[in-house]
Amino acid sequence: MPEPQTRTVVVLAAGEGKRMKSSLPKVLHPLLGRTLVGHVLNAADPLGAARTLVVVGHGADQVRAHLAGIAPEATAVHQAEQLGTGHAVRIALEAAPEVTGTVVVLNGDVPLLRPETVGELVAAHESEGAAATVLAAQVPDPTGLGRIVRDAAGRLEQIVEQRDATAAQLALREINAGIYAFDAARLRDVLGKLSTDNDQGEEYLTDVFKMLVSAGEPVGVHLAADHSETLGCNDRVELAALRRLLRDRVNERWMRAGVSLLDPETTWIDVTVALDRDAVVDQNTQLRGGSVIGSGAVVGPDVTLIDTVVGPGATVLRSHAVGAEVGPGASVGPYAYLRPDARLAERAKVGTFVEVKNSEIGAGSKVPHLTYVGDATIGEQSNIGAASVFVNYDGVRKHRTVIGSHARTGADNMFVAPVEVGDGAYTAAGSVIIENVPAGAMGVARARQRNIEGWVLKRRAGTAAAEAAERAQGASAGTSSASEGEPIHGTAESVGGRPGAGDTATE
Ligand code: UD1
Ligand code: CA
Repeated sequence: MPEPQTRTVVVLAAGEGKRMKSSLPKVLHPLLGRTLVGHVLNAADPLGAARTLVVVGHGADQVRAHLAGIAPEATAVHQAEQLGTGHAVRIALEAAPEVTGTVVVLNGDVPLLRPETVGELVAAHESEGAAATVLAAQVPDPTGLGRIVRDAAGRLEQIVEQRDATAAQLALREINAGIYAFDAARLRDVLGKLSTDNDQGEEYLTDVFKMLVSAGEPVGVHLAADHSETLGCNDRVELAALRRLLRDRVNERWMRAGVSLLDPETTWIDVTVALDRDAVVDQNTQLRGGSVIGSGAVVGPDVTLIDTVVGPGATVLRSHAVGAEVGPGASVGPYAYLRPDARLAERAKVGTFVEVKNSEIGAGSKVPHLTYVGDATIGEQSNIGAASVFVNYDGVRKHRTVIGSHARTGADNMFVAPVEVGDGAYTAAGSVIIENVPAGAMGVARARQRNIEGWVLKRRAGTAAAEAAERAQGASAGTSSASEGEPIHGTAESVGGRPGAGDTATE
C-alpha cells in the first residue's frame, strides 16, 4: 500500500464565462440547489483535503462572499488576469508553498461530477504513484473540448485543445474533463516552464502532461464511466441541459428510495432536499433548498416549496411556501401562500386563498378561506371564519394576535393587533375586533343594521329592482298564511348587531 498522501484541492473559478452573458460570475449560477462551484466543491468534499484553494478573478468579491457561506474553510486565491488554467494553478500553488502530496485540480464549471468519480481518479493516481492523472471521457460530441492524444501503445502523449488540434486529433472523441490529480512537487516543477505558444496565448494546464511525458514521468488517464458527469457549462443552453440531466439523476435516486414521482419530467428537486419513503410528489412541483417531505405526504400538483418542512401524511396542493412548517396530517391549499415561519401543527388546515406569515396554527385548527394570518398564534381546534384579516401592521410596527383553543371567529373579521380572543370564545361575522374577547364570550363589533322599508319603490321607481320588489310584496301578501310560524333566518333575532345562526358558519 502506498503512503496516504496529503491532499489539496484547487478549484479554478476565475473565468468570466463570457458566453453566459451574465453579470453573475459563471460559477455562481444556480443549478438545483447549489451553485456550479458549490457542486464542484461538494464532489471534492469526500477527499478529506487538508486545504482547499479556489482561484477567483472575475466577480471575485461575489465569489468570495459565496465561498464564505458555503465553504468557509476554503481559501480564495486572486488571479487578477485570466492568463490560462496553467497560470491559475501556478498562482494557487505559489500562495500555498507548503503544499505537498496530491493536488486535485477541478474546473469550476463541471457541476455534474460525482464524488465517487473524483475519489476513483485520486485513488488510481495515488496507487500508481503517477506524476499526473487526468479524468477523461468518451463523448458523442467533443466539439470545443481538449482531446486526449494517445501513442500507438495507448499511453497518454498529450492533451490538445480544439483550436490547436490537427484534423486527425479533432476526430478523437476521448476528451479532457478538466479534472486532474497531480503530484505536488512534480507539478510545481513544470508549471514554471509553461509556454504561451498556443492559439489563445495562455498558459495551458493541459500542457503539463506532455512536459511530464517527455521528462519520462508516469502519467495516467482515468476514464469516467458516465460521460455526462464531465459536461462543462459555457452558456445558458448548456446550463439548462445540465439542469435536466441533474433533475433526472436526482429523481431516479428518490424513486429508487421509495418516493413516488407521478411526473418526473415536471418535478424539480434540489440536491439539498430530503424525502421519506412513500412520499408522493405530483406534477409541476419544485422542491427547493432545505425542504423535507415526510412519509406518506402528498405534495402537488403545482406546488413550489422552498426551505419548507412537510410532516408525514400532510397534503399540499397548488400552493407556494417559503420557510414554512406543515405538521403531520395537516392540509394546505389549493392556492395557499405560506411565508417564513408559518407553522401549522398536526392536522391543521390552511385552505384556499389564504396567506400565513410568522404565525402558529394549532393542532386541528382551520383557516379555510380567503384570509391573511400575520403574526398570530392560534390555539387548537379553532376555526377562523372566511375573509378575515389579522391586522398586524400599524404603519410603523408589527403586533401579534392571539386566538385561543376551540374558538370560532366569524366571517369577515378584522383582528386589530395586539388583540386576544380567549379559549372557546366566538366573534360575530363582520366584526372589527379591537378589544380582547374573554374566554367563552361572543365578541360583536359591527354597525347595527337598519332596513328602510319601501326605499326602492320610492327612490328607484320603474327599475327592474322596483318591479321585482313589487312582485315579491304581492306574492308574500298572498301567501303570508302559508309561511306563518316558519323560522325565517336573519330576522328579528339577528338584525341589529346581535349574532345570528350564520355568523360563524364558514367551516
Ligand atoms: C478546459 C481545458 C480543456 C478541457 C475543458 C473541460 C485547458 C487549457 N483546457 O478548457 O482541455 O476539455 O476545460 O471543460 O485547461 N480559469 C481560471 N483562470 C484562467 C482560465 C480559466 O480560473 O485563467 C477557470 C475557468 O473559470 C473555468 C476553468 O478554469 O472554471 C476552465 O477554463 P475554461 O476557459 O472554461 O477552459 P476550457 O476552454 O473549457
Ligand atoms: Ca469550460
